[in-house]
Amino acid sequence: MKITIENLQLRYGKFTAIDDMNVEIGDRESVVLLGKSGCGKTSTMRCIAGLEQPTAGRITIGDTVVFDAEAGINLPPNKRNVGMVFQSYAVWPHMTVFENVAYSLKIQGIGKTEIKQRVHEVLELVGLEDFASRGASMLSGGQMQRVALARSLVMRPDVLLLDEPLSNLDARLRDRLRIELREIQLQLGLTTVYVTHDQQEAFALADRIALMQDGIIVQMEDPTSMYLEPASASIAHFLGVSNVHPVNPAADGMWTISGSNLVLASATEVRQTGEDLRACFRSEDLLLSRDGVPGANSWRGTVKVSSFQGSSIRYAVDVGAGVTELDVLAPLGARERFQPGEEVWVTINAGAVQVLPQSPAPQELRAAVAA
Ligand SMILES: Nc1ncnc2c1ncn2[C@@H]1O[C@H](COP(=O)(O)OP(=O)(O)OP(=O)(O)O)[C@@H](O)[C@H]1O
Ligand SMILES: [Mg+2]
Repeated sequence: MKITIENLQLRYGKFTAIDDMNVEIGDRESVVLLGKSGCGKTSTMRCIAGLEQPTAGRITIGDTVVFDAEAGINLPPNKRNVGMVFQSYAVWPHMTVFENVAYSLKIQGIGKTEIKQRVHEVLELVGLEDFASRGASMLSGGQMQRVALARSLVMRPDVLLLDEPLSNLDARLRDRLRIELREIQLQLGLTTVYVTHDQQEAFALADRIALMQDGIIVQMEDPTSMYLEPASASIAHFLGVSNVHPVNPAADGMWTISGSNLVLASATEVRQTGEDLRACFRSEDLLLSRDGVPGANSWRGTVKVSSFQGSSIRYAVDVGAGVTELDVLAPLGARERFQPGEEVWVTINAGAVQVLPQSPAPQELRAAVAA
């Protein structure tokens, strides 16, 4: 079911946690709210669920206006048909898995036969069909989180809100549950809003990612577009681009990295001009070699650190007399290996260099989000 958020604002006293948010989430769409700690992700979820009263704006789920500050509408959480799953395992330890999942159906006065059928259906969906009679306190973290998910799903919500549901789990389990969640979401055609600060998780789960900074959605796009074309250097950095350096325009459309004489060519379009421009390039796009020629995108440097990472080796390379250090990721199978102290050449293709404003102007932001 569609969710429309218009001019949403949430203030805690003088502090603005959500500032004039406008978003439309499509029916059956999976939107991931991504952003660093404190940017307003949970606040947004709580407003949709009805657990927090916004200061201004309107929220519509399907055709129902669930909140409208001006019209004085504010439906309570249980009238919104929204399911929520949180980071902490909110299961009742003294009940069995079956009882946990059946609880809300019982409260609604649904008959025993139907309860049995619906509970078994969702337990199968989340892979807990063999655990129905197990006490909920005798489950692993991953299993408890599946119970919490089953408990939301059994209510057949129009919208499912998930707030960092996997962050208490170990990395491997998180990877697996992430894929299962996406399968369930697609299978049931659920509209979901998922909160995380992990970009890998966002990429894996989202039809569209809404990237939040300081209570504002600064970019909203499908994961591939966001990865390839971040709207600002701060977004690029958040999405894992480790080389971000202030630049100044130089002759012939080139750039120099501020505070150095390193010349940089970028073959990508500079969409905005401004004072505060940064060159952004990914560590895996840099190449190291023993031989080279000085010029644009080809710099002499010294290896400071070399660290083995399994499938790759990460190098810190000083290219600017102690001022500019580059993060380079070389595949393990790379022809040459380098040791700390070695002199090297670092090169990068001009197509892999983006010059972006540190943070775009608000009107540019709005246009980017609306597009
Ligand atoms: N009840 C409250 N009173 C005052 N300020 C609050 C309250 N709840 C949240 N905030 C503030 O609002 C901002 C947004 O909080 P929110 O919980 O939405 O962040 P978040 O993006 O979910 O962060 P995290 O990733 O750490 O969970 C934070 O700066 C927080 O300190
Ligand atoms: Mg939060």
